[in-house]
Amino acid sequence: MRIDVLTIFPEFFGQVFDFGIIRRARLAGIVEIGVHDIRVFATDKHRMVDDRPFGGGDGMVLKPEPIFAAVEHLLGTSDKAGYPDGTRVVLLTPQGRPLTQPLAGELADSIEHLVLICGRYEGVDERVNDVLVTDEISIGDYVLSGGEPAAVVVVDSIVRLLPEALGSETSAENDSFSDGLLDCPHYTRPAEFRGMKVPDVLLNGNHAEIEKWRLQMALEKTRRVRKDLLEGENGGCE
Ligand code: 6GU
Repeated sequence: MRIDVLTIFPEFFGQVFDFGIIRRARLAGIVEIGVHDIRVFATDKHRMVDDRPFGGGDGMVLKPEPIFAAVEHLLGTSDKAGYPDGTRVVLLTPQGRPLTQPLAGELADSIEHLVLICGRYEGVDERVNDVLVTDEISIGDYVLSGGEPAAVVVVDSIVRLLPEALGSETSAENDSFSDGLLDCPHYTRPAEFRGMKVPDVLLNGNHAEIEKWRLQMALEKTRRVRKDLLEGENGGCE
């Protein structure tokens, strides 16, 4: 997979893709990640990337020209009808479809080239949406001042699902949300720490018992903090 991030703050991304699973996936050639400064594609003499909104109002709106030029540079066209199969151009915006584990999985499975456009909270000229953008994604119901932190979240959630990105074949299957539940608690050595004991069931080597305990813990935790996840599963009959 190739991922290109378009941003007015390229320095924001510093070393953020140089750690852990993303670093390993890059070194193994599983993913290539590029970060591009939208300002480089501005054509006017002041290299303006934003301007005041038509109709008035607060804040600045990202101008269309540099974003169109950046996408043309990356994809050879700025018309979504002309993108190759497996190419998606995603605008990161609080107005987008919420990022969920199933959506991350769908993106990881189906995309060869992902272009992420980091929006500003105040907005992006709508013609970018009309002509360039194939998907709008939000990372949750709160407002960020820009799409940059969301781009990091989207990249991480996708890259760790790419085949061979995780160390152990099964570790993504055990994640919170992969079965619609939060994850169970985990323990490592020492078996007793400052008087706090690891649950006996984890020490006795009975794998059937351990799996039963893990599922029960996951269900209890989900019921306590994310009842909505259980209600979504079975039409509220929980
Ligand atoms: Cl993708 N962008 C911004 N600016 N705010 C957000 C978001 C994205 N997702 C949740 N809040």
